[in-house]
Amino acid sequence: METIKVLELFAGLGGFHIAVNNQKDANIQVVKSFEINVNAVKTYQENFGYDVISNRNILSLSTEELIRQNVNAIFMSPPCQPFTRLGKKLDVNDDRCNAFHHVLKLLPRTPNIQYLLIENVYGFESSKMRENMLEILQSSGFYTIEFLLSPTDFGVPNSRLRYYLLARKNKKFTFCKHDPPSILKEFTYCTCGGISLHEQSSICSNCQREVNTKISSLVQQNTGNMKQSFLVNTSKLHSYLDEKTDIEQYAVPDKILLRYGNILDLRTFQDSSSCCFTKGYTHLVEGSGSVLVCNRSVTIEEAYKAYNEFKETNSEAALNSLRKLKIRYFTPKEVERLMCFPDNYIWPKDLSDKTKYKLLGNSVNVHVVTLLVALLIHS
Ligand SMILES: C[S@@+](CC[C@H](N)C(=O)[O-])C[C@H]1O[C@@H](n2cnc3c(N)ncnc32)[C@H](O)[C@@H]1O
Repeated sequence: METIKVLELFAGLGGFHIAVNNQKDANIQVVKSFEINVNAVKTYQENFGYDVISNRNILSLSTEELIRQNVNAIFMSPPCQPFTRLGKKLDVNDDRCNAFHHVLKLLPRTPNIQYLLIENVYGFESSKMRENMLEILQSSGFYTIEFLLSPTDFGVPNSRLRYYLLARKNKKFTFCKHDPPSILKEFTYCTCGGISLHEQSSICSNCQREVNTKISSLVQQNTGNMKQSFLVNTSKLHSYLDEKTDIEQYAVPDKILLRYGNILDLRTFQDSSSCCFTKGYTHLVEGSGSVLVCNRSVTIEEAYKAYNEFKETNSEAALNSLRKLKIRYFTPKEVERLMCFPDNYIWPKDLSDKTKYKLLGNSVNVHVVTLLVALLIHS
């Protein structure tokens, strides 16, 4: 069996490292990783030991060192700020792309690298950086396949639409017969190996049949010899949450309730979805993640009716109506579960909740990347 030795770059909390360790029937391990953020490095060390991770800037990695590392795979999530929906979208002109560029420029000179897995935000798929990346990969002999996927595609009740690229040197992906492949989304696969190329069409361009295969089935078909299951057991939020959480400790503050009550993304224990948790969770409101209504004896509609009635004239009455709902933030542990980190993931003792949210908000959904690692090495 081939041995795959992974270099994990922009390692953060080590989401890729967990995905690699989740590959039960493969000879694959992370042998080295690089990360610049001290808190991420400390957390990584707690979970994966002190030897693997280097607290180093990736810009200092040379061709010679990359060859010396004796790795044949690179897994990485380069900074996403140059491409985010709410950012300035400076793309290749943003200095935060420099380290990503640097790694790509090393590839033509490092023939030992045979496998790549790259993650970035939704928005990256239409960037100049992606164009540059594909040009370099194709001229270096890589076959590539790209995805836009969310954990919700696999039954996990949390949205996190992300761009993923799998690349293999000299080894085609057998499940995709199209060249060049388009970016693959849910419901675009056909069991014949074709895909539906047009977003609006559900007809397979290869066999002309209706396409309805889910990505989870695709993974199952292409990794059939693996023993692990790729489907999560439940899609309800309650199985990711702690009913006994101290509501006061995580309560959404009054000033946020009063001012931003109408833009909070409210969820209940019975819901089967939640918004993407970003690094700004708890200090930004809009689009940074969901909050939880803990009091089930008051209806949300009733509380909001009173809130909107009194908001401009009687702030105490408006506030009281929302207070009754007992709205709290998801705890870091709950966010961690929704990101599919394993139960035994540990944090350094002195790390604040704010830092945990920040690191988790930058991280990857472990379930999704576990599936993609499986596709990369087995299909
Ligand atoms: C999107 S996050 C990575 C998430 C990671 N895959 C995880 O599972 O948590 C990007 C990470 O790259 C790190 N980073 C950014 N620029 C870097 C550089 N030049 N050298 C090393 N690490 C860098 C950031 O500190 C951040 O933790």
